[in-house]
Amino acid sequence: MSFNPFEERPVNIEATIQNWKELYPESYNKYEVDPYTKLRIILTNGAEFEANWFSHQFHRHCCDNDLRRELALTRYIEKQQQMKIANLKPINETILETTIGYEQLAVDLTARLALQEPNEYVKAALDFALLEDFDHLYRYSNLLELEWKIPAEKLVGGYTEIMPARPTIAHHRHPFDNVTYFVDYKSADIITKLNIGIITAAEQQTMNYYMNVTGFYTSDLGRKLYQEIGLVEEEHVTHYGGLMDPSSTWLESLLLHEYTECYLYYSCYKDETDAYIRNIWEQNLIQEIAHLHKAADLLQKYEGKDWQQVIPNGQFPKLLKLGPNINYVRDVIKATVEMTADREGYINVNDLPNDADFFMFQDIVNPDKCIVPSHCVIDKYIKSNGIDYRYEVAPNPIESLRNRKVDNTTLGRVKQR
Ligand SMILES: [Fe+2]
Ligand SMILES: [Fe+2]
Ligand SMILES: [Fe+2]
Ligand SMILES: [Fe+2]
Repeated sequence: MSFNPFEERPVNIEATIQNWKELYPESYNKYEVDPYTKLRIILTNGAEFEANWFSHQFHRHCCDNDLRRELALTRYIEKQQQMKIANLKPINETILETTIGYEQLAVDLTARLALQEPNEYVKAALDFALLEDFDHLYRYSNLLELEWKIPAEKLVGGYTEIMPARPTIAHHRHPFDNVTYFVDYKSADIITKLNIGIITAAEQQTMNYYMNVTGFYTSDLGRKLYQEIGLVEEEHVTHYGGLMDPSSTWLESLLLHEYTECYLYYSCYKDETDAYIRNIWEQNLIQEIAHLHKAADLLQKYEGKDWQQVIPNGQFPKLLKLGPNINYVRDVIKATVEMTADREGYINVNDLPNDADFFMFQDIVNPDKCIVPSHCVIDKYIKSNGIDYRYEVAPNPIESLRNRKVDNTTLGRVKQR
């Protein structure tokens, strides 16, 4: 049965404000939780941050205080939702353990979005960054085993492989090459608009998480790794945020934000295996339906537009379902491991001209591989253990990534022919 949130009866927004007792949830048990429950928590945390922060920006660009008051009320609820979700993470889960969840989400969410994406340009953007987050998972996992003696395969539940892909050292591109074409939302499929909103919020959440934790991590090596990968996430946020249609008005964009939140919570609610957390997704869905109806009213009142002009059919498309994607990721590695971005497109690094911005930028940030943290982590791990840490169900699809005694720092970065 398909679901149309515009056809649901909205509750009163003020009736959904929570007291301090209601707001502080019971955290999950990190030894028993399903990895995909953790991923849904990270994802919705990011969607709520985006909802709140988008609303702050709208507020700062709006001259009408009646409208600004409406925004402030809903924005406060978005923040309550965000802070409640953030405390589902238990006290005993460390910064680095949580990080493994962030990168597993970036792999398994991106793969699922790519699989359902009808727009080829958007699908290529998803596949492109997917491989980079997949390699980040490998780098952080080596740090986790090196410094904490914890095998990351336990945290990912064996659902996601942990091995190198396009090496992180190759992710550092000139910022000019991270600006994508934007998608025309007037003609785009609703699933494309949902996918872009969801992945941008997720990558932004990751960027902000690394920004906030880098100074709190307990070793220099780890702090350096967060710095380096945090800057790759900056690239990813530019890359995905660039796909959004900048010609949407603030109120059209608000409506789409609320619709995306409804879609996410309904998907999470249908997918969730933990009864306590499923109840939170349901509560939040009820709140989001109220936000959506409010946004539709505001769009009508201030711009004289019906919600159908932004979302022609309110029925949800196929719901988002998180799960393993081992074969899909292997296929993407095989097909695109040597690709880099070249302005709005992608190119095999071997086909780039020698004077490309990519090589110039690489020379600035990576003058010597020995100062590149993502390489140092693997190098140090190999020096103390003989081989790197991996979790793979079959040999790496790329032959030059199979040697576990040497970290490959040239693939996708230095011309091989
Ligand atoms: Fe929300
Ligand atoms: Fe990442
Ligand atoms: Fe990323
Ligand atoms: Fe909302």
